[in-house]
This record gives sequence, structure tokens and C-alpha cells, in this order.
Amino acid sequence: MTINRPDARPNVYRPYDLILKKRNGGTLDADELRYLVDGFVSGEIPDYQVSAFLMAVFFRGMDEAETAALTMAMAESGQVLDLRDIAPEAVDKHSTGGVGDKTSLVLIPLVAACGVRVAKMSGRGLGHTGGTIDKLESFPGFNTSLTRERFLECVTRAGAAINGQTGELAPADAKLYALRDVTATVDCIPLIASSIMSKKIAGGAHGIVLDVKVGSGAFMDTLDRARTLARTMVGIGRSVGRRAVAVISNMDEPLGLAVGNAIEVREALDTLAGRGPDDLRRLCLALGTEMLILAGKAGEAGEARRRLEEALASREALRRFRAMVEAQGGDASLVDDPERLPKAAHQVPVEAPVDGFVQAIEAREIGVAAMHLGAGRARKGDPIDLAVGVLLRKKVGDRVRTGEPLAVALANKTETIPAAVDRVKAAYRLGPRPPAPRPLIEDVIRE
Ligand code: URA
Repeated sequence: MTINRPDARPNVYRPYDLILKKRNGGTLDADELRYLVDGFVSGEIPDYQVSAFLMAVFFRGMDEAETAALTMAMAESGQVLDLRDIAPEAVDKHSTGGVGDKTSLVLIPLVAACGVRVAKMSGRGLGHTGGTIDKLESFPGFNTSLTRERFLECVTRAGAAINGQTGELAPADAKLYALRDVTATVDCIPLIASSIMSKKIAGGAHGIVLDVKVGSGAFMDTLDRARTLARTMVGIGRSVGRRAVAVISNMDEPLGLAVGNAIEVREALDTLAGRGPDDLRRLCLALGTEMLILAGKAGEAGEARRRLEEALASREALRRFRAMVEAQGGDASLVDDPERLPKAAHQVPVEAPVDGFVQAIEAREIGVAAMHLGAGRARKGDPIDLAVGVLLRKKVGDRVRTGEPLAVALANKTETIPAAVDRVKAAYRLGPRPPAPRPLIEDVIRE
């Protein structure tokens, strides 16, 4: 079911005046912002005026009410899903994007196993970051272009479903993002916050758990900026009647050990079976705790955590994942036998040049190496190779000996190997002493 967006506002403004107002540090109201967004989506306001507006926002910023109004204008630029009939708690999760981030593959079936129904909209990978939709296509037949009716049917059947972002939801965001991308206005907190929150609101979420990544592989490279983005998004939630919690998590090294597509699916399956890497498991438990509380399935963190751990130990979460693959038409027998997931022809170790301890692993560089091996795309629409990627053997804090493998490059095309190996080697910083430990969860921002 969808809710119709409110009627478009009368055409009483001039784009020039609104650009001037913002350029001079003024505050735009909800009607003015809706006029700009609707006019841009309909094609009445040209790219060059919206570009000027975005640049004015970049330099002047937006206050909380203004950011919330922009978010709602974007959310209501297309369909807004109403999930109340099938998922009364309607809790969703969003990550600001990182390297090796297969969290959704674990978290969605995990919370579904605890009784939270999730209709999750996800994207494809671009540049150094991967996308959940690409990873799920490791299961032959897995349909990530479900119609709205089939999507909701899958949620009802399996308790959770993951579908590709459709152009019907928040079309203003897709158009604005494409313009930001070519006008140097991506890196702007009110624009990032409204972009993310508009998609979640259009997707029907009433409770939103945000995984805000901070570090070398993330959009936000300092804790201060990550906190500001987190507070801005939680503030939007407060202003528009949605409950939002932001978990700020470290992305100074890739999450888990696998960076690619099929290899990330394997790692997610391992985690669902109780054998995954410690950082991935801990992050999923932290995000799952917030989701269970927002959904009203647990009263406090201790209770939420116990339920999540039980769902992992009993393998109910893994069964949910299998049910989700089956409901969406994928070959679920691969869940029982992950050895049959796509595999690369070549495995090339990347050896440590000296003895020492791993001080840092540039997540972005590992992501770019995986992309060059074929796991990601430089441009939207490029084909990808599901089997290839980078498998880390050492993480930050680990001791290494000269010649020991730091990581393994998984390749199908031999010509992609030398540059990827060099990049992975350069991504590792080694030093004589163990580094000071950094927390995985840096902060949690609540209302
Ligand atoms: N992710 C989004 O969805 N939008 C942005 O603007 C940045 C990251």
C-alpha cells in the first residue's frame, strides 16, 4: 500500500529568489523547499539553478527544521510505502557505506529471527564500496527487482526481504545525487543526511538504525564529522516523527576479512553459523540491539542481546537467511553448501615485507584493489565478477613475520593481479610495536 504525497504547492516562487536567499545565509521554509524539489523532479527548474542552490547549501548549511523539510520534500517526491499491515514495527537499518560491509546480510535475518519483520531496500556497489544487492546475486536466481506486491509477500513469507532501490521511491534523491556528484557537493552533511533519511522514510520505516562509518574507508573521516552527521540524521527523525538511533562504527580497516561479493556472502553465512569474524559479529549485535529495542521486541539492551545471541546459537537466523533466499527465487542449496558459491581461479598471497605489527589497513585502498580485480564497478552499470576480491589474513593489531601472507588476492583475470597486489601491500602499514587499540563502536547517538 502507498500513501499519496500531498498536493504540489502553487507555483508562487522564483528559483532565483530562493537561491539568493540561501546564498545570503537565509533559511528556506518547507513550501519553498518543496517548490524547488518538485520543480527539479518535474524538469521545470533546470540543473544549473539546482546546482547553484546545492552549492549555496554547501557553504551556508541548513538548520534542523530546514534539513527535515528538505528530507520530507525528497521522501514525498515519489511513492511512500506504508508497511503497517505487514510489519507494524517497520524498523530499517542503513549504513553510510564502507569496505567489507556485509552487515545487512547477517543483521536482517538475525533480527527477523527475533520477530522483527524487515522490508529492506539496498543498493549496488560503486567505486571502492560494495553493495548488498550485488552480493545477493551470488545466489543464482535471486530476484532483487521484485514488484512492490511480491516484495511485501516475501517479507510476510520469510520474515525479511531485501530488494533493489526502485526509481519510484524518493526519485528526487537519485536526481539530486547525480547532480551533487558532478558539482562537488556530495560532501555536505545536510545533503547527505537528507539523502539517506528521505530513502528510509519513503521505504516506510518508522524506526531507523543508522550505522555511521568513520575512518579511512568512510565518507566521514573524523569522529567529529561522523557525530555531526549522526546527530543531524537523528534530529531529522525527531522533527518528522520517526525514531532514529545512530551507531558510529570504526572503518579504519575493512569490516571482517572478506572484501568482494561471493566471499562476503560466505563470511556472512559463517557469522550466521556462529563462526564469523569478531568485529562483524559485534557490530551486528550492536545494531541488532538497537533494532530490537526500536521495534519494541526488547525492553533493554541486555535482553535484546540475549535474544540475538540465542538466534545465532540456535541457527534460527541462518534458517531465516535461507528462507529469504528461497522466497526471492535464489538457489537456497548454496546456503547449506557455500563451497559451491562462485570461486576465483587464482589465489595470490600478498606477503609482509618486514616483521612487525599491523598498525592500519587503508580500507579505501583494499576496496579499490577489489574493484580493479573486478569485484566492483568504476561506473554505474559496469559488469562485476562475483567470485573475485581480497581476503585479509591479518587485521590491525596482528603480528606478522616477513613473507607471511597479509592478504590473498582472488582473481579470474591474470592481468588484474599485479596492480591489485601492489595496492593491497601499500594499504598495510606495519610497525615495530602493537598499535593502541581503537573501539569498534565509537559512539551511539540517541534522541
Ligand atoms: N549515502 C547516501 O545515500 N546519500 C549520500 O548523500 C551519501 C551517502
